[in-house]
Amino acid sequence: MNKVKLTDKILQLKKEKKALILAHNYQRPEIQDIADYIGDSIELSRKAMLEKDAETLVFCAVDFMAESAAILNPEKKVLLPTLGARCPMAQMLTVDEIKRAKTHYPDAPVVLYVNTLATSKAYCDICCTSANVVEVINSLDADTILFGPDRNLAEYAAEKTGKTLIPIPEWGFCPTHVLFQPEDIAVLKQQYPDAVVMVHPECSAETRRAADFVGSTSKMCHYARESTAETIIVGTEEGLLHRLRKENPEKRFIVAYEGAVCPNMKLTTLERLYAALKEEKHVIKVPEATAKHARTALEKMFLVKS
Ligand code: 13P
Ligand code: SF4
Repeated sequence: MNKVKLTDKILQLKKEKKALILAHNYQRPEIQDIADYIGDSIELSRKAMLEKDAETLVFCAVDFMAESAAILNPEKKVLLPTLGARCPMAQMLTVDEIKRAKTHYPDAPVVLYVNTLATSKAYCDICCTSANVVEVINSLDADTILFGPDRNLAEYAAEKTGKTLIPIPEWGFCPTHVLFQPEDIAVLKQQYPDAVVMVHPECSAETRRAADFVGSTSKMCHYARESTAETIIVGTEEGLLHRLRKENPEKRFIVAYEGAVCPNMKLTTLERLYAALKEEKHVIKVPEATAKHARTALEKMFLVKS
């Protein structure tokens, strides 16, 4: 089936099934272009919560984002077009690891990045995203905090808040964002001396130090809009550049390292999106016993002003 025909069929099915197509900022351009909403890791679930008429949410993203959508929208059917679209970082933190850390730091609250599985979220005090991590940490009446699974994000939040964040596990990381190196940024800066650099907080401390701005994907979109720079070097998954270019056609965006692709985000194709809608697969369900605790941790995060 050609692309135009496929797009038409997806739009037709979407209408029939009262479905919403939600796409993370790292999705392929053609998926972003057909989506009802494009956003960061939690914006999409929140948007879906306001869409009372939608019966089905097709989540073009990775496992933990679809799980969050299912937890926050229990009355809707949540579909993940590719079951194998898993965030490797979310898999790095197990419940056993959280329990083990708690035995060493029994008084420390547990803050988990939304890039975790629901089973882990059920064991935390509050969740955070890379957009609100500083505000969430500052909202806690504690100076020592257990934080997982991203060690780089833990370091970033510790720098910003002056608090002690104990990473769980000690070594958690995003395999895509660790590929950004300050050396590559330095080469690009020589080529484009007037460019500004923005990177995701999942990048290493050395890479963050080479940047003018550090923020989540939604914050980078905002920074790019407000910036007067004509050229912006971007240290995050290359999918974001499609949105940045569409929203800012007069600016030039250069990815800081072309090999930094999240293979899991790219598993969703138009063909798989079509099959997901047609066959109503793969339904993501979180058992209520787990969902109840994970929901509380997510809702606490929503109460923090950011
Ligand atoms: P954002 O919340 O900034 O979109 O990040 C999600 C993610 O997976 C980053 O790698
Ligand atoms: Fe996970 Fe990294 Fe991919 Fe984001 S970019 S979904 S953190 S592997």
